Amino acid sequence: MTIDIRRAVVLGSGTMGSQIAAVVALAGYTTALVDIRQEQLDHARAELTKRLDRDVEKGRRERADVDAAWERLTLTTDRDAVAANADLVIEAAVEDLTIKRSIFAELDAVCPPDALLVTNSSNIVSSRVADATERPGKVCNLHFFNPALVMACVEVVPHEGTDPETVEAAVAFVESLGKTPVKLKKEVPGFLANRLLNALRREAVDLYEDGVADFKDIDLAAKTALGHPMGPFELMDLVGIDVVYLIRLAEYEQTGDPASLPAPSITQKYEAGDFGRKTGRGWYEYPAE
Ligand code: CAA
Repeated sequence: MTIDIRRAVVLGSGTMGSQIAAVVALAGYTTALVDIRQEQLDHARAELTKRLDRDVEKGRRERADVDAAWERLTLTTDRDAVAANADLVIEAAVEDLTIKRSIFAELDAVCPPDALLVTNSSNIVSSRVADATERPGKVCNLHFFNPALVMACVEVVPHEGTDPETVEAAVAFVESLGKTPVKLKKEVPGFLANRLLNALRREAVDLYEDGVADFKDIDLAAKTALGHPMGPFELMDLVGIDVVYLIRLAEYEQTGDPASLPAPSITQKYEAGDFGRKTGRGWYEYPAE
């Protein structure tokens, strides 16, 4: 049986959720972007407008396509109203297991019984939320990368009990977005790309904390010797140091291994509220435009 996806809901209008919703609406789906805070939705609308208008100016998208995507995209705080008609819900809320489990239980109660419930989490594997629902076979991870409007990869990660039809539908959905599905055969926290990235980031932070080089020079090495588009410190600022910190804590919670804990320099920036681009300061400074 093929699963027909027409209406999608994205929960959480932060950096990831808002760009994922734009990608989904641009691909032709009736899409709702949901947040509990109206201010956050207003911010998401302003940011997306800026991004998509710039894409039109630069000739990367047609004005008609962007206008049509806005027609298909609703920004709302009324989650249950849009979830009641959803074929697919993509959860992109905070990396907190307790919150995610209650979201999945609540979605299970309001969504149509056939709807797929997926999480964009990079670290919380879907088996940990699937059992909060009565439809574990329709739950998996669908992991987008930042910035979601640009990055091609989406990791498709089933848990042991995910139905093969769910995986098939998730892969087809990712392809329909014009993205590249990368399939995992089994769950592992961090999946593929983040595990690769974490290894690089861990080494970069160790080198910095050991006083071997300035973080700017470590970034320079990654870019000019390895051909990475951004250095590991620039990337932390893009992804958000708060996100990096919370991912490390979530990993520690799953592994119990002290090596999973955030490094001191990351904890210090997190506690100072220096989250990167979104706060104007992280490893680098980002003066307001
Ligand atoms: N949102 C949307 N589009 C963006 C963007 C953003 N935040 N930043 C850049 N872009 C797009 C824009 O179209 C931009 O063109 P304009 O400046 O003309 O608008 C275009 O990319 C090029 O941007 P830049 O000239 O500023 O810089 P660039 O050529 O280095 O490209 C980049 C930017 C695409 C982000 C590139 O640097 C890159 O690929 N960096 C690596 C990103 C990466 O590794 N992402 C994965 C992060 S890990 C993750 O996401 C996992 C997780 O679980 C948290």
